[in-house]
Amino acid sequence: MDYETPQFFRVMQYANQADRDVVDMVSGSPDWEPPESLREGLVEYARGEPEQFQYPPSVGLTDLREEIAGRRGVDREQVIITNGAGEANHLAMSAGFERFPGSEILLVDPTYPYYAGRASLLGADTRYVPASGDGVPDTETVRECVREETSVIVVNSPNNPLGVTYGEETKAALVDIAETYDALLVSDEVYDHFDYSGSFTSALAFDSPNRVVTNSFSKSLAITGWRVGYAVFPDRQGPRGDLFEDARTRHMLTTVTGSRPAQAAVLHALRETGPAYYEGVRERLRDRITVFTDALDEVGATYTDPEGAFYVMARFPAFPGTFESVELLVDEAGVAGMPGEAFGESRSDWIRFALVSPRVETAADRLAGFL
Ligand SMILES: Cc1ncc(COP(=O)(O)O)c(C=O)c1O
Repeated sequence: MDYETPQFFRVMQYANQADRDVVDMVSGSPDWEPPESLREGLVEYARGEPEQFQYPPSVGLTDLREEIAGRRGVDREQVIITNGAGEANHLAMSAGFERFPGSEILLVDPTYPYYAGRASLLGADTRYVPASGDGVPDTETVRECVREETSVIVVNSPNNPLGVTYGEETKAALVDIAETYDALLVSDEVYDHFDYSGSFTSALAFDSPNRVVTNSFSKSLAITGWRVGYAVFPDRQGPRGDLFEDARTRHMLTTVTGSRPAQAAVLHALRETGPAYYEGVRERLRDRITVFTDALDEVGATYTDPEGAFYVMARFPAFPGTFESVELLVDEAGVAGMPGEAFGESRSDWIRFALVSPRVETAADRLAGFL
């Protein structure tokens, strides 16, 4: 299986061409409303003067960087606004790979496939640490896997595809490992608002020149199409201030800057949106998790208990997580998920379902009926 080429479109295309109704649980695009203030922010921006429609600073609108820095307890100078967490991950991984010694990027298996694709793009060797039984990598195993060749370690919590959340101890150990082995830890926290267990800890809790945190508003504000994300780099005056400079140059030469209307609207939404919005979304997802996992229990499936993000990965008796199985589910059950084999070896007989459809209950019924 080639993990370097994300396979989401292959399954989506298959589901779209099916000659029956299919509940799409393939990709992670929220189906719920963004906060009202986001729309207001965009409308307000559109009424502005032409001068406000010109290039913002390459590293992002100053007020947005300030707002993010205040929320994350860091200096504004450490924050760069990117085109989603995708670009933030790219800048962080590229800077780390260029500036830290070694030819290898360490990923957790199962992995979000874009990390593997990016590692390949950078010409890095990829090494995988298998997630342990509960889905969280055992930090002693990570320690054993890291070696002189390791330049960058990429982790994601709350996790796609497993739905697990790494606690404080795990995050602290990962930062420590990066420091000990002179590597860069890239901590992708794009699902930080989707923590149902209360155990999520940001890598920002551990100040270190060896970690970069990436994030975005794609999921938290339900705007995957708007492309606003960010990365928090180590202190620019510190020993790894060069990482920010590397990312800034790469960002400027590739994209010039990010979308100004999207950044302006996100800033407005951040200022105007209270915790009730995020709690409402979590409540909706908790309900979906219950409905879906009840159906999984009914058919005797094994699954990781979703503590975060909005994915459930499940293994069905005698039904491997291959593309063939997924296509059979589309045709026979009318439910589309992602095969586990698209995320790595360790969960290759599992299937991932994204709970971003209002028809999760229908999907659950169909799966229970079919399996
Ligand atoms: C783990 C992870 N990181 C990054 C992204 C991409 O986020 P963005 O839309 O902000 O680029 C996704 C999208 O599904 C994701 O699951």
